[in-house]
Amino acid sequence: MAGGVMSAQDGGTEFPGRLTRQVIFCSLIAAFGGLMFGYDIGISGGVTSMDSFLEKFFPEVYRKKHEVKEDNYCKYNNQFLQLFTSSLYLSATVCCFFASKSCNTFGRKRTMQAASAFFLLGSICNGLAQNLAMLIVGRLLLGAGIGFGNQAVPLFISEIAPAKYRGGLNIMFQLLVTVGIFVANLVNYFTSHLPHGWRYSLGGAGVPALFLLVGSLIIVETPTSLIQRGKKERAMKTLKKIRGKDIDVDKEYQSIVAATETAQKFKHPFKHLVKNCMPQLICGSIIQMFQQLTGINVIMFYAPVLFQTMGFKNDASLLSSVITGSINVGSTLIALFFVDKWGRRALLVESVIQMLICQVVVGIFLQVDLHATNVMPKVPAYFVVVLICAFVAGFAWSWGPLGWLIASEIFPLETRSAGFFCAVAMNMIWTFIIAQAFLSMLCSMKAAIFFFFSAWIVIMGIFAVFWLPETKGVPIDEMEETVWKKHWFWKRFFDHEEESGDAKA
Ligand code: BGC
Repeated sequence: MAGGVMSAQDGGTEFPGRLTRQVIFCSLIAAFGGLMFGYDIGISGGVTSMDSFLEKFFPEVYRKKHEVKEDNYCKYNNQFLQLFTSSLYLSATVCCFFASKSCNTFGRKRTMQAASAFFLLGSICNGLAQNLAMLIVGRLLLGAGIGFGNQAVPLFISEIAPAKYRGGLNIMFQLLVTVGIFVANLVNYFTSHLPHGWRYSLGGAGVPALFLLVGSLIIVETPTSLIQRGKKERAMKTLKKIRGKDIDVDKEYQSIVAATETAQKFKHPFKHLVKNCMPQLICGSIIQMFQQLTGINVIMFYAPVLFQTMGFKNDASLLSSVITGSINVGSTLIALFFVDKWGRRALLVESVIQMLICQVVVGIFLQVDLHATNVMPKVPAYFVVVLICAFVAGFAWSWGPLGWLIASEIFPLETRSAGFFCAVAMNMIWTFIIAQAFLSMLCSMKAAIFFFFSAWIVIMGIFAVFWLPETKGVPIDEMEETVWKKHWFWKRFFDHEEESGDAKA
């Protein structure tokens, strides 16, 4: 996951504030959470394509991989191999629930410390794994780290950042996720040449985890979290510290107190969310489901396996995923610069067309050129790599970052955390489903799997055109009035409020 949730004080008002050393330092430390998430996404694919790893933990897959008569599309079809990748997201989904509670009860900083401890334990467990059980336990621990980290880190960053830098920092988090994926692809490329290289790849996650752990001991707690937990004096001191001594923080402080008090009046934000914010809840969650149904994580998790299926040697497969990884980073930068210029929907719709063409043509190439036991000819194989790069680029400047950005900006303050939590959980559930199902689907559907994702891309395109309102440039606290209550379809959900004059009770 990436993106962020707006903090309690975010009401569209500008307070004096610059990027102080404290803010930069704290955001940088917290951003290691994004890097960790990306690293975990990117590392499993390369590792599952390494012979030494397969031989040790999945001897059956290793044997099938090297059997000439085994069906190309089914070489990696193994529930446990998929579980190795997917278990992380299952645990992350479950831990999201606890993380949301922990953020409120213990604060963002403590929750981040818990995340980094889980990350560290998970990477040690994986790097030293002696058997499949240890490997899965390690993945579950990493998943716990992601569940905790993905709730706490974006919240933390958006709460300490001055309002005018919040949007940029929001996409920066997604950027760091892509950097993490890219670093993982590179690490896999180099470690695959070493004996037991997979141990370095999996154990390598311990490096950013250690940074996050040490860093999370020295960063500040956010003023919002301190106020929420009744520590007003410390909150004031912290605000002064992060905004700089020469800045008058009184107004910002008062606004955080007021916003926090308003939010605390809603004892059951989830009930309120379902009752009064259904359109936002549907859109925020469905975008996450669609994001995963583009098939992006098929590439992020299984690109090396997919490239090997097409007949590339191990090295070439890993190198190809380094290329897709770097395109992912570069294209996310494009979103960073153009999202507020061109708007969300323009990027989403353009990318739907681009991703659709890529998926359909890849499907056709595989249908024509990759049969049960042949090796795909070189030219179409290279074409497929180029198309996959174009697909990744389309995703990375649209549904990737915008899925998170939109989820963070459409909810009114009192349901913002609850709404964002639903988006994170939805993302994790669908990531789990795709990770667990893809290799089996590839085996049974063969090249048609790409047409399956194409069909979803058409559906999400229609959704983006007709049901997703444009949120570019709309102040966050005016979103409901100017966007949702005026939308041709969603406005009907608010009619009862207008009639009863009871908007938020
Ligand atoms: C998605 C991840 C995906 C990543 C790729 C994120 O927005 O949530 O599932 O792996 O983008 O860059």
